[in-house]
Amino acid sequence: MTKMKNDPASRIQDLQQFGEFGDVNPSITDSATYTFMQAKSMTETFDGTLEGCFLYSRHWNPSNKYLADAMAAMEGTESAWVTGSGMSAITGTILQLCNYGDHIVSSQTTYGGTFAFLQNYLPKFNISVTFVDITDLKAVEKAIKPNTKLIYTETMTNPMLQISDIPGLAAIAQKNNVKLVVDNTFTPMLVSPCILGADIVVYSMTKFINGKNDCVAGAICGSKEFIDSLCNVNNGTAMLLGPVLDPLRSSSILKNLHTLHIRMVQHGKNALYLAEQFKKKGISVSYPGLPEHSGHETLKKMLNSGYGYGGILAIDMETTERSNDFMEMMEKKGVGYLAVSLGYFKTLFSNSGKSTSSEVPEDIQKNMGMSSGLVRFSVGLDNDIKRTWTIIEECLSAL
Ligand SMILES: Cc1ncc(COP(=O)(O)O)c(C=O)c1O
Repeated sequence: MTKMKNDPASRIQDLQQFGEFGDVNPSITDSATYTFMQAKSMTETFDGTLEGCFLYSRHWNPSNKYLADAMAAMEGTESAWVTGSGMSAITGTILQLCNYGDHIVSSQTTYGGTFAFLQNYLPKFNISVTFVDITDLKAVEKAIKPNTKLIYTETMTNPMLQISDIPGLAAIAQKNNVKLVVDNTFTPMLVSPCILGADIVVYSMTKFINGKNDCVAGAICGSKEFIDSLCNVNNGTAMLLGPVLDPLRSSSILKNLHTLHIRMVQHGKNALYLAEQFKKKGISVSYPGLPEHSGHETLKKMLNSGYGYGGILAIDMETTERSNDFMEMMEKKGVGYLAVSLGYFKTLFSNSGKSTSSEVPEDIQKNMGMSSGLVRFSVGLDNDIKRTWTIIEECLSAL
């Protein structure tokens, strides 16, 4: 029997979400609160027994519901909730799943903000974390304790670009009755973690999903039961900590989501081209699309076909000084911008150890294998990537 193709882009395309007057884009909610014609309906909405009514915009609002539904469609999950940042999606999910005294097994390489939350913030709640090499499934299983509540990882880790074996991790999570939470920020469309067995997928929509670098936003996708628990008016983390996304932003992100599949293909094509050129030039390059990358085969097995290998690559310039000179030159010559973040239509580059992973202490950076000269590229949508490479080559020669 042939395997059914998992096609997140078509699931988004099939959504029919109209505005109030048949507008092709859903109407934007411009209200914090909502009126009821019957007081009883308000009580039932508060109790969570009446669906389809809106109460207050921090809880739910129609614009956020449209975007959340589209995110759930993309991920193949029952439900989703959108948040004011990727960090609030991550912290809200973890705080919903863990209580005082619980334990987490996490990938050692994660986004620096996530690492700082796990390492520095959670001890406030007596929640402990064991950091492991997430590609070592035996080490993951060994780290699980009786009080472990979840395994946390990123599909493609930031910034080392390790690949998590999601079906393998899901099997360990199920066997030990813990949840698997996956940050899929680097690989939307390419990989569908919940379809591969994860329980919850979190996103920074600031990155590829929005793709315009004009706002910060996040999303949490999972079962209806989990999303409902997050939004519970009495004890839901999302409802009580209140990281709501502004409806105006939801509306613009939803429109950008409809072009995500095309953008991911172009980001992937351009990144593969640059990775191959760096390799030919003898520069140490990490890109999961290259056959020699340690996670290449694992990623290939998980990929939804036709979207490429993603837009992120990293090269080793050996020292911070060389990486700084190189990045400054590339910015001057118009390759892109020396800036943190990723998923933008222009190429962005930064030295991870000195920026987005600066929260990770230097000894742990070394342990991860992160060089002080590591330059992470988020490759843009350049129409002529060969032209871009010519400029990069000039910069390399001038170093
Ligand atoms: C993988 C990953 N997850 C989460 C975040 C945090 O997202 P936000 O900045 O939207 O809060 C980032 C930010 O760089 C990231 O790279």
